[in-house]
Amino acid sequence: MNVRAVAARLLGQVLGPGQSLALVLPPALARVAPCDRGLLQELSYGVCRWQPTLQALLDRLLERPIDPRESVVRSLLLTGLYQLHYLRIPEHAAVAETVAAARQLHKSWAAGLVNAVLRSFLRRRTELLAMLEMDREAHTAHPRWLLDALERDWPDDWPAIVAANNTRPPLTLRVDARRFSREDYRLRLADAGWTAEPAAAPTALILAESVEPTLLPGFASGWISVQDAAAQWAAPLLDLHPGLRVLDACAAPGGKTGHLLESAPDLDLTALDRDATRLERVRETLTRLQANARLVVGDAAHPAAWWDGVPYDRILVDAPCSATGVIRRHPDIKLLRRERDIAALAEAQQTMLNNLWSLLRPDGRLVYATCSVLRQENEKVVAAFLTAHPDARESPITADWGRALSHGRQILPGEAGMDGFYYAVLVKRTPVLGGESWRLPF
Ligand SMILES: C[S@@+](CC[C@H](N)C(=O)[O-])C[C@H]1O[C@@H](n2cnc3c(N)ncnc32)[C@H](O)[C@@H]1O
Repeated sequence: MNVRAVAARLLGQVLGPGQSLALVLPPALARVAPCDRGLLQELSYGVCRWQPTLQALLDRLLERPIDPRESVVRSLLLTGLYQLHYLRIPEHAAVAETVAAARQLHKSWAAGLVNAVLRSFLRRRTELLAMLEMDREAHTAHPRWLLDALERDWPDDWPAIVAANNTRPPLTLRVDARRFSREDYRLRLADAGWTAEPAAAPTALILAESVEPTLLPGFASGWISVQDAAAQWAAPLLDLHPGLRVLDACAAPGGKTGHLLESAPDLDLTALDRDATRLERVRETLTRLQANARLVVGDAAHPAAWWDGVPYDRILVDAPCSATGVIRRHPDIKLLRRERDIAALAEAQQTMLNNLWSLLRPDGRLVYATCSVLRQENEKVVAAFLTAHPDARESPITADWGRALSHGRQILPGEAGMDGFYYAVLVKRTPVLGGESWRLPF
């Protein structure tokens, strides 16, 4: 099938029933010829990244809106506009192939419409693009609720956040510190013909060009993993030592679990996740890394169902969140996330944090992390937690990355090439015997 038709069908599943690209793209990639995979990926990510802009163009080109049930036709039109506006595909080929895709999708009735809309765009391009300058959502390619939230939370930084969200992310690796220094592995990459530069975390390397990671030296043997540098701060913040008992409370797919196990020997680590299918990915990851953990399917907000009653020295809460810090990697978040989700996520994060606290031993350390840039999911959750837990204190993060907030530290997307991430470190005070007060552990 024509790669544009495949793209339109999978994008229809994102725009219509709201499936994620992570779910619908891999099976589609497997169905197309290897030579078409790059273009399929480009069209899928590109249309999601620029959908608010493309939709605004389409609205101005159509005499009446497309029937909402025809999400595949709408996706095909957006795919056509994306090629004409953002890619260097010859215009006649982009139009002809997109019209042909309509027929392949058994939407012959739409072939004339696709042809007319794309040709009209080519004729009216300058005038239409000037109109978009006045339209905030179209101009920034972000939905209004998200723009409002970014502007409220980051009055000085929101334009840079928006710009970073619309870029393609770099390919960042984590080098397994048990086997190589970052520099040793960088030299091995250079021997194999790949250029990489140190990134903002001690184990992170950024590749100069995008490559299928499995082709890199030692990938199958676990020498490296794909992980953004921002995500590589969780393990150092946990202050791990050999033999500690650690809970990774939202572990799947296991990116940070693997890093924790690479950071100190003989950890007694429990990797918990509510989703059994995703937890299987942790098993696969750990097998490749030759690392061991106890895998448990369970709800972090309800530990009574799975906890054995032995306290943990360290807990990582890499909480489910809006993922507004990783939009450049997952541009479909712009289409799938709704404003009302944020309050519900913050409530779930609060409950999870509150209910996991009693599993931490006195003097123990809990790291709360999200890949969100919204204060409601980050410092506000931590502030409410600290108010409700007098036996908790925050250990301020002193670092040359990110920025200090009233609680915790925030990395904004694109800063030092990193994804947007939030971290806070919470320490349990030691109770003083016979008293109401607590002693500070460190
Ligand atoms: C941000 S992802 C974790 C990413 C992971 N730490 C990594 O580095 O690869 C959040 C995870 O939390 C899981 N999750 C969501 N709600 C949960 C709950 N109540 N209890 C346990 N896991 C949960 C999701 O299934 C998802 O795998």
